[in-house]
Amino acid sequence: MASRKRRAPPAPKATGLRQGLATYGDAGFSLFLRKAFIKAGGYSDDALDRPIVGITNTFSDYNPCHGNVPDLIEAVKRGVMLAGALPMVFPTVSIHESFSHPTSMFLRNLMAMDTEEMVRAQPMDSVVLIGGCDKTLPAQLMAAASADRPAIVLPVGPMLVGHYKGEVLGACTDCRRLWGQYRAGTFSDADIEKVSERLAPTKGTCMVMGTASTMGCMVETLGMGLPGSGSIPATHSDRLRVAEQTGKLAAEMAIRQGPKPSEIMTAAAFRNALTVLQAIGGSTNALVHLTAVARRLGIAIELEEFDAIGRKVPVLVDLKPSGDHYMEHFHWAGGNSRLMKEIRGHLDEKCRTVAGRTLKQVIDAAEIVPNQTVIRTPKDPIKPTGGMAVLRGNLAPRGAVIKHAAASPALLTHTGRAVVFESLEDLAARGDDPKLDVKPDDILVLRNAGPKGAPGMPEAGSFPIPMKLARAGVKDMIRISDARMSGTAFGTIVLHVAPEAAVGGPLALVRTGDRITLDVPNRKLELLVAAAELAKRRKAWTAPPPHPGSGRGYNGLFHKTVLQADEGVDFDFLGPEKK
Ligand code: FES
Ligand code: MG
Repeated sequence: MASRKRRAPPAPKATGLRQGLATYGDAGFSLFLRKAFIKAGGYSDDALDRPIVGITNTFSDYNPCHGNVPDLIEAVKRGVMLAGALPMVFPTVSIHESFSHPTSMFLRNLMAMDTEEMVRAQPMDSVVLIGGCDKTLPAQLMAAASADRPAIVLPVGPMLVGHYKGEVLGACTDCRRLWGQYRAGTFSDADIEKVSERLAPTKGTCMVMGTASTMGCMVETLGMGLPGSGSIPATHSDRLRVAEQTGKLAAEMAIRQGPKPSEIMTAAAFRNALTVLQAIGGSTNALVHLTAVARRLGIAIELEEFDAIGRKVPVLVDLKPSGDHYMEHFHWAGGNSRLMKEIRGHLDEKCRTVAGRTLKQVIDAAEIVPNQTVIRTPKDPIKPTGGMAVLRGNLAPRGAVIKHAAASPALLTHTGRAVVFESLEDLAARGDDPKLDVKPDDILVLRNAGPKGAPGMPEAGSFPIPMKLARAGVKDMIRISDARMSGTAFGTIVLHVAPEAAVGGPLALVRTGDRITLDVPNRKLELLVAAAELAKRRKAWTAPPPHPGSGRGYNGLFHKTVLQADEGVDFDFLGPEKK
């Protein structure tokens, strides 16, 4: 019998299930094996021969901010299938602010690595990244930047507001305010108990302009998510519609094999994001996160540039913690697109978005809402300049940040006596001690609370006013630390002092009784101690002992490789691959 010459199998197209096959010399067999296993899920060949859209699942009982993720996934899947592709849902790390010990920031890079590697490892032509609670969108953007597969971000959206005794409440600005009243003795046990049921009344992220809301606006501004997706309330049906649309777009991106995150998140797109960050009076954390995302793409964010933008761009959004309203009001006033319209002269409108439109087209399509007062015009701003400033001086050679939009104007230029807390533990032990020697015009210093020191640079920077002063009615004092603060906090708080004390930054050398000058108009942060004396103290300084657990595992990796605040607190080995 004449042997029939078998036709060679067609060269595998690197789409759908054919991506990243471990061939071991036989690509056909690897594909056969992959199909055999996936068919255990009941898929047909018709389904499996399509481009694949991966969808992250960050639902977790520990993460009520992501409580609507299952509904969003269903809507995204519907959109993907309507456009002819195959949706595949996969889990990643999920992080909630209140359930992440020692701090959510400690886990952000872990989530970024997990997401990046799962996007890389599994066959998908594009990916929908669904996140929202503070560190999750930054982690997903970092992952998208490094994996550089076509990606679109879908925020989970903000909660609706809460109500108590005729007052509108918002997590978590009012959490802090009301807890402050409770500490001062003006809010009862019964009140604080009841309020704990009202502060976070629905699924979704904190509904003030905290980190989650800020990052939602950053996703839209960077062009990585659809217009409105950063601000539609988590529980509104519009959010499901934007999820369906996101799914459709992800399918088109899978078929077109683009655009890639590196084509959307350009240097100009990051400048736009920094501009919007100033105009919304956004969270200081977003600066660290944007720095980390940009670094993944080899783009450096210069603190001076951010400060210069802040000197030109006004704060226009009247939202807590620096204003009066909440995210749902921002959304119904026109949201991020409308905000960008007011500052379009400061933006590079040529930037592309995942939807294929330019930023100009997004801005042109912004909804115009008559008589709204949430998004102001540059002629009638909340503040004539941006929300944040970058400080330098002998206390912060690599910079520090202050959200002056949420600070007490009278304290923005002040010289006072330092009262130093050595660590978070020291603060907890002595902060409320009635014998603590502290006066209202002192400057409170907290150190060893930075990226390495704490570890994970917790949101401890807005630490409480010592109890005896709080009870005497003191509402604000200057606080300086190498920590971060929640985007929902307010006060005259200097953050992200770099380098941090734990690596020998000058913050480590301050002693109680030294004098410090904060001069925000001139962007100065100075320790008024002679250079010779500081040199003496430096010689005598020893690094704090490594924190427990840092000798092994993820903690050890974090300790060895985490970068400072001005570099985004990413790990040193996660920058772009050296060519
Ligand atoms: Fe999740 Fe505030 S706790 S966004
Ligand atoms: Mg927060």
